Amino acid sequence: MKFQILTQNYYDESVQLLLDLELDTREEIEHHLFDMDAHMICLDDDRVVGIVGWYKDNVNYAKEAMGDLFPGEEAFWVGFFGVKNEYQNKGIGTKLLSMMEENIRQKGAKEWWVSSVPEAKEFYEKKGFSVVCNGEISGNKKYFMKKSLIK
Ligand SMILES: CC(C)(COP(=O)(O)OP(=O)(O)OC[C@H]1O[C@@H](n2cnc3c(N)ncnc32)[C@H](O)[C@@H]1OP(=O)(O)O)[C@@H](O)C(=O)NCCC(=O)NCCS
Repeated sequence: MKFQILTQNYYDESVQLLLDLELDTREEIEHHLFDMDAHMICLDDDRVVGIVGWYKDNVNYAKEAMGDLFPGEEAFWVGFFGVKNEYQNKGIGTKLLSMMEENIRQKGAKEWWVSSVPEAKEFYEKKGFSVVCNGEISGNKKYFMKKSLIK
């Protein structure tokens, strides 16, 4: 397994992986992955098997659902995060998340946030995130979770 920053030659394959996992629409996924430096991928035999990113919510995507608990536009969020089905539960997600955590720590992040699908809530809890509130975005149930990055 090889871990690296997303580059143009792996862009289409990364979009497809996230579409296969049904995480969002093609438009949303392509919009986020356009910021390639903010994404890290895992390769097996030169095929993309996992991806994670970070983003800042400058359109207040989560604000309506979170109300006063919305952390503001400068907060760091976990971006599209997924591991190909047959590669799950092998530690790839853990490694991607911890590499990305280090990356945003170096950018000055003191905490990071995630709007988790219900199926991944337990995974994030194991990684140190706690639920702040829950709500819906575009009719999909989300848990808004936070992890402090201050050691
Ligand atoms: C969530 C996801 C990225 C985790 O990646 P992964 O490579 O499977 O994770 P790891 O192998 O590093 O798992 C680490 C631990 O979390 C557990 N785990 C993995 N996915 C889990 C889930 N959905 N719910 C609960 N526990 C989970 C593993 O059993 C393992 O537990 P252990 O450390 O006690 O043995 C992956 O399951 C995935 O792509 N899911 C579908 C897409 C998704 O839900 N993405 C998140 C959107 S918010």
